[in-house]
Amino acid sequence: MKIKDLLENKNITEDKNKLAIGQVLNMSNPEISINKEKEITKDEYKKYKKVVKKLQKGLPIQYITKEAYFYNDKYYVNKDVLIPRLETETLVDDINKLIKNKFKNQNLNVLDIGTGSGIIAITLNKLNKNLNITATDISKKALKIAEKNQKIHNTNVKFIKTNLYQDINNKFDIIISNPPYIEEKSQHIEKEVLKNEPKIALFGGKDGLKYYREILKNIKAILKENHIIAFEIGENQGKKIEKIVKEILPKDEIIIKKDYNNFDRYIYIISKDN
Ligand SMILES: C[S@@+](CC[C@H](N)C(=O)[O-])C[C@H]1O[C@@H](n2cnc3c(N)ncnc32)[C@H](O)[C@@H]1O
Repeated sequence: MKIKDLLENKNITEDKNKLAIGQVLNMSNPEISINKEKEITKDEYKKYKKVVKKLQKGLPIQYITKEAYFYNDKYYVNKDVLIPRLETETLVDDINKLIKNKFKNQNLNVLDIGTGSGIIAITLNKLNKNLNITATDISKKALKIAEKNQKIHNTNVKFIKTNLYQDINNKFDIIISNPPYIEEKSQHIEKEVLKNEPKIALFGGKDGLKYYREILKNIKAILKENHIIAFEIGENQGKKIEKIVKEILPKDEIIIKKDYNNFDRYIYIISKDN
């Protein structure tokens, strides 16, 4: 059997078929096109059929290859963690810029709440060596993946298993979180996401705002006077979260930012400089 025979498989979309071939033969799409006449082994064919079956069932390719890209870097992922999203790269980019603007070159304490695969904390650590980063998650399995990624990227984040920031007594200059923010009964969630990604990473209670409320409620206890808080948020949550913030941190500047689809996606809460 040759690659060109696999390309004729009509039981799967062309895109997914090429993903399956590329994964099994370790080839890019152009390589697949150039090597159509290449013979494949029985073993490779067996592996190909397995990958096709998983893709047909709607399993995301990242959970099959066990890798995902974030900020141009490769991360290990499995079904215990959310697949890194492109939107979250903007969150990291913005925080990095805000830090440089506000703090110059000081050593800073950073907390990432709900770290999952560790992408936010690890990327920030790689971008800025002056950060002492702590990252928490309630899922022991997710933290195992974050530790694995930390080893791959040779960073220095302190990972802690806890509920949000319970039992953490430090004060932080920067607090970041991309918490679960989907409404419990949301009709907008994609079938493949719902079926495959960890529920604990997706749902933020009845109105999706549960974790923002919980994080903000006692945030002053772990926040330095001069600070930045950065959240990734759901598509209609900007004004609602702004209202909660204003009650707790009335003097702070609040910036709501939209994503490429013009949906609310980020909120930055910044203390005014004295
Ligand atoms: C939307 S995912 C974000 C993961 C990662 N930070 C990212 O941006 O890809 C939310 C994360 O919050 C974690 N989480 C859920 N409830 C939590 C809680 N009470 N305390 C700490 N982490 C929690 C989940 O396990 C999940 O890893």
